[in-house]
Amino acid sequence: MDNLLTIKQLKNKNELPWELLLLADPSKKTIERYIYESDVYIALINNEVIGVYVLTIISEGIIELKNIAVDKNHQGQGIGKRLVLDAIQRARNKEVKRIEVGTGNSSLSQLALYQKCGFRIVGVKKDFFIENYPEEIIENGIQCLDMIRLAMDL
Ligand code: COA
Repeated sequence: MDNLLTIKQLKNKNELPWELLLLADPSKKTIERYIYESDVYIALINNEVIGVYVLTIISEGIIELKNIAVDKNHQGQGIGKRLVLDAIQRARNKEVKRIEVGTGNSSLSQLALYQKCGFRIVGVKKDFFIENYPEEIIENGIQCLDMIRLAMDL
């Protein structure tokens, strides 16, 4: 079914797929801090937006993959992996030297996905989620406390 998947850059920021973006990060305020200076990519099946990811330059030569999300009805079909691989390819085309991504210590399937796509764990931002999110986050029975940073040299 995902043969029909197309991934393209979203040119008009008035059409941001907020429902999907908020799946990856529940804080609209946080997303608004960088989304308007970032490149946003959407995945479509039959003209319906079912996935999103964002690429943001975070320092010279380094780009971050943010806000990757796939609509709940389309998860578990390989689309998330297609999006991560697409992000890596687009980062290569931008001629940056490194791509990074961050996720929670409790986000086990996300940690699996990024490592399966070639990312390596490079650091931990301790207490990141306690300090930046007012509500307790629990996933897989684990409290989300720290941000695990992963990276890949391109
Ligand atoms: N152990 C091993 N591998 C696992 C795993 C686990 N516990 N959980 C997932 N995976 C693997 C899958 O097997 C698959 O790899 P494979 O193709 O080699 O088998 C890969 O991770 C991802 O599967 P895929 O179907 O491509 O992912 P998806 O389309 O469901 O999208 C997300 C993944 C994370 C984008 C999607 O679940 C989502 O939108 N989640 C909510 C938003 C979110 O959390 N975003 C990330 C913020 S950091």
